[in-house]
Amino acid sequence: MKALVVYSTKTNNTLKLAEALYDTIRYRKELKSIDDNPDPEDYDFIAVGFWVKDGKPDPATMEFLPKIRDGKEVFLFATHASPRDSKPIRNAMKIAKELANKGRILATFGCQGELSPKTMEKIAAQDTKPAWFADAPAAKGHPDEKDIAEFVHFFNTNCI
Ligand SMILES: Cc1cc2nc3c(=O)[nH]c(=O)nc-3n(C[C@H](O)[C@H](O)[C@H](O)COP(=O)(O)O)c2cc1C
Repeated sequence: MKALVVYSTKTNNTLKLAEALYDTIRYRKELKSIDDNPDPEDYDFIAVGFWVKDGKPDPATMEFLPKIRDGKEVFLFATHASPRDSKPIRNAMKIAKELANKGRILATFGCQGELSPKTMEKIAAQDTKPAWFADAPAAKGHPDEKDIAEFVHFFNTNCI
């Protein structure tokens, strides 16, 4: 059994989850950035971490997910400003699941991830702000230690 934890991140929120997941896996494992273009064929279990951009998985992840084939075991996790049980986030996860549907998806997990101060400022200055931006204040400080503990517990309960 060989596991890949692959992550896409701009501001390291998703990286925090990816590192915690990597640390908890007890079999052969690799941690890679999606920018390194890992080949999913080389692994039996693939955990894909992404950030939500404009209601969808980020573009690099949208490209990567369809490369997963042959019923490989898949775990999807994401960070986003909006709450995980909100409709737009459920929809973003649905898009990710559809793109990865050649694999066998074991579970999905989402958690809030804060915006960088630079992005906060940039969007706050726009005349028209995206609807999800209203959730940005509540995302501040996330993912925190509690989110990460919950994430690891979720993985150990649902994917092992
Ligand atoms: C251009 C842009 C678009 C975003 N779109 C959404 C979105 O549609 N929904 C959402 O909940 N969060 C959205 N976010 C917030 C990020 O998904 C969130 O901060 C995430 O944790 C960033 O992950 P990272 O630190 O791994 O890059 C957006 C952020 C940026 C910069």
